[in-house]
Amino acid sequence: MRLFKHAWILGLVLLPFMAACGGSKEAPPAPEPTPAPTPAPAPAPKVAMAEITGRAGSTVTGLVTFSETADGVEVTAKVSGLEGAGEHGFHLHQIGDCSAEDFTSAGGHFNPADQIHGGPSDADRHAGDLGNIQIGEDGTGGLSLSTKLLTVSPGPNSVVGRGVILHEKSDDLVSQPTGAAGSRIGCGVVQEG
Ligand code: CU
Ligand code: ZN
Repeated sequence: MRLFKHAWILGLVLLPFMAACGGSKEAPPAPEPTPAPTPAPAPAPKVAMAEITGRAGSTVTGLVTFSETADGVEVTAKVSGLEGAGEHGFHLHQIGDCSAEDFTSAGGHFNPADQIHGGPSDADRHAGDLGNIQIGEDGTGGLSLSTKLLTVSPGPNSVVGRGVILHEKSDDLVSQPTGAAGSRIGCGVVQEG
């Protein structure tokens, strides 16, 4: 009997806990989760490419990529099928036309600023002066450089619609107006990719 008599005390002790439980049920609904801010997508780099082909009967092939970044244009080139090791002048020429057998249809070096011929790191140079591609004993080689004188986007310095030319000889980076790089052994038309 004593147990029942004092049961109310137990109730008194438990009451705050029960209230707490009940309270949690009445908690206001959780606020709508605010969607995490989606980061602005990085703009897709503008890219243009040229497939190099050799003269009739030649095994020369290659691929040149122009990739526009905030810092200018990254130029990468890979060529193969050449005969032996050596340096070969490599330029962006004015016209994207490889129809002539000797590729003279591509015109002269791309030179929108009316500059003198030079090397890719000279302050005074044609925008199209990309220097030389070093070819190894296996007849392959490549080049990778960055230039602020070219764009892929439309404009006076855009590479799109122009021609890439690989030369027979080394560009001495000095002789005017072509670097004495000799005849043209590879040609490609730059197309937006
Ligand atoms: Cu050239
Ligand atoms: Zn030049």
